[in-house]
Amino acid sequence: MTYIAIKDLSLTYQTKTKSVHALSHIDLDIEEGEFVSLIGPSGCGKSTLLSTIGALLEPTSGSVTIAGQTVQEVRKQRKIGNVFQEARLLPWRTVGANIAYLSELAGQRPRQSEIQEIADFVGIGAFLNSYPHELSGGMRQRVSLCRAMILDPMVLLMDEPFGALDAITREKMQVELLRIWEETKKTIVFVTHAIDEAAYLSDRIVVMSARPGRIQADYVNPLVRPREPFGRQTHETSDFQSVLHGELMRAETEERTDA
Ligand SMILES: Nc1ncnc2c1ncn2[C@@H]1O[C@H](COP(=O)(O)OP(=O)(O)OP(=O)(O)O)[C@@H](O)[C@H]1O
Ligand SMILES: [Mg+2]
Repeated sequence: MTYIAIKDLSLTYQTKTKSVHALSHIDLDIEEGEFVSLIGPSGCGKSTLLSTIGALLEPTSGSVTIAGQTVQEVRKQRKIGNVFQEARLLPWRTVGANIAYLSELAGQRPRQSEIQEIADFVGIGAFLNSYPHELSGGMRQRVSLCRAMILDPMVLLMDEPFGALDAITREKMQVELLRIWEETKKTIVFVTHAIDEAAYLSDRIVVMSARPGRIQADYVNPLVRPREPFGRQTHETSDFQSVLHGELMRAETEERTDA
C-alpha cells in the first residue's frame, strides 16, 4: 500500500537573477516501512526532492502526501524526522537537551527516561551530559538520529547522513541504521552518492537523472537480507552495484548532452 505518494511534482527555484528548474514531473510511491535510497548526479535535485517530502520546500506543482495527509499537516504534527550531512546540534545544549529540543518546540518535554531509552537504543546513552564539541562526528550523527527518532516520525528523511564520516565509522553507522530500521520499521528515504551504501541499505534504489531531476530508473534491490558485510562482497553484490554504476554514468552523460 502506498504510504508516501509523490504525484507529478515539479519545482523551479526563483532567484533574483534566474530560475532553476530543479525537478520535473516526479511520480514516486513508497510503501510503509520501505527503505528507499535516492541516487543521482550532483545537483540533480535529490536534496530538493527530500525537502519537498519533509515540507521544507513547497513544490511549484504536484503534490506529496503521507498516509493520505498533506506533508504540511504531517510536519505540523512534527512527525517528520530529518537527518542531514551535518548534525546541526545546538553547541550550548548537552546531548540530552539536544535530543529533547524538537519536542520542546512542539510544546512537549520528553521524560528523562524516554531520552535515556532512545539514546541507549542509538548507542549514545553514556553521553547525555556531554556537549556536542566533546563528541566524534559519528557520535554527533547518532545524536541527530535520536533527535529525529524521539518524535516517533512517520518518515525518516536522511540526506547523505554519513557523507562526512570516515570509511570505518560510516560502515558502523550503516550497520546501526539497518538494526534501527529493522527494529522500528520506520519508512526511510535516504539520499546518498555512494552506490555501495545504497545497495547495502535499501529495499529500493531510485536513480535520478541530471537537472531537471526526473526519475530515470527504479530498482528493487535483488540482494537478500541480511546483507553481506563490507569486505565480503558476493558476485550478486558487485553485479548489482555495476548496474547502478551504469545508471549513474547514463545520468551524467545525459547531463553533458543537455548542457
Ligand atoms: N535555494 C536555491 N535557489 C536556487 N537554486 C537552488 C537552490 N537550492 C538548490 N538549487 C539548485 O537546484 C538544483 C538541485 O539542487 P539539489 O541541492 O537538490 O541537488 P542534489 O542532487 O542534492 O545535489 P548534491 O548531490 O550536490 O547534494 C541545483 O542545480 C542547485 O544549484
Ligand atoms: Mg544534496
